[in-house]
Amino acid sequence: MTPATAISKAEQTELRWDLDRIPPFPAIALKALNLMSGTDTSLLELCNLIRSDLAFSTAVLRIANSPLVAFSKEITSVLQASILLGFQRLRTMVITVGLRAYLKGSFTPLIQSCWHHSIACAIIAERSAKWRFLDKDFAYTAGILHDIGRVAMATLMPEAYARVIERGADQPQDILQSELELCGIDHCQAGRSLVTAWNLPDAFLAIAACHHNPEARAVGAAGLVPPSCELADALGFAVIRCRSGRSYAEILAAFPEPARNRFPAEAEELCCEIANEIAAIESA
Ligand SMILES: [Fe+2]
Ligand SMILES: [Fe+2]
Repeated sequence: MTPATAISKAEQTELRWDLDRIPPFPAIALKALNLMSGTDTSLLELCNLIRSDLAFSTAVLRIANSPLVAFSKEITSVLQASILLGFQRLRTMVITVGLRAYLKGSFTPLIQSCWHHSIACAIIAERSAKWRFLDKDFAYTAGILHDIGRVAMATLMPEAYARVIERGADQPQDILQSELELCGIDHCQAGRSLVTAWNLPDAFLAIAACHHNPEARAVGAAGLVPPSCELADALGFAVIRCRSGRSYAEILAAFPEPARNRFPAEAEELCCEIANEIAAIESA
């Protein structure tokens, strides 16, 4: 099917990929993404950023005091959170809170399924990184942002994107083709465009733009995103149903040691753990 036959002329006008029509990502989360880690100055800067916004401070403190973090004592200030959690962990919280705030304005079932998929992918990538001694916080952030292009498409062109979902896919690669046909852009191109417009570090550009390209698969923590995305889909956190997706056990078997052995053998168990983490984030 060609783009001309897939969508009418009027729809094509509506489907123009126009960055000006996409709501801006929360400035605090963007600044946090661009802050380099590892110095006292960056920790203080991050702290000040969070403290400058009451809603952000409140949400970060709620997550810091949730079972997700499980500190024995109550965290009562952003400064205390920064000391106890450190820069990287605090930054992943800011990005999670930022993405949630970003999506809250249009929390349709489609956006909700994008959000759940992103969190599931982030949790899986973080766990894999932990056991491979990679940067787990970067892996989490990469996981939560990898499909940001899809989130923007679902916000900008919800009806066309609903048709992509309705069509489903025989193979994972078919999804990008369907998006191109029905929306005029695929979510990797959309992700590249957003990450460039938001001026995010190059590491995120590669993740948002290339996570479905087997030839461009990244190494290190970024390389955990494609298998984590696939595993999230297999666990039921998929945005688009793929009719020939691999099973949980098949995907897990392809995970490198020792990450593989640290995941539960039963899909339901991991599914439950992720659902609990999503619930904790949502209730914060
Ligand atoms: Fe994707
Ligand atoms: Fe994904």
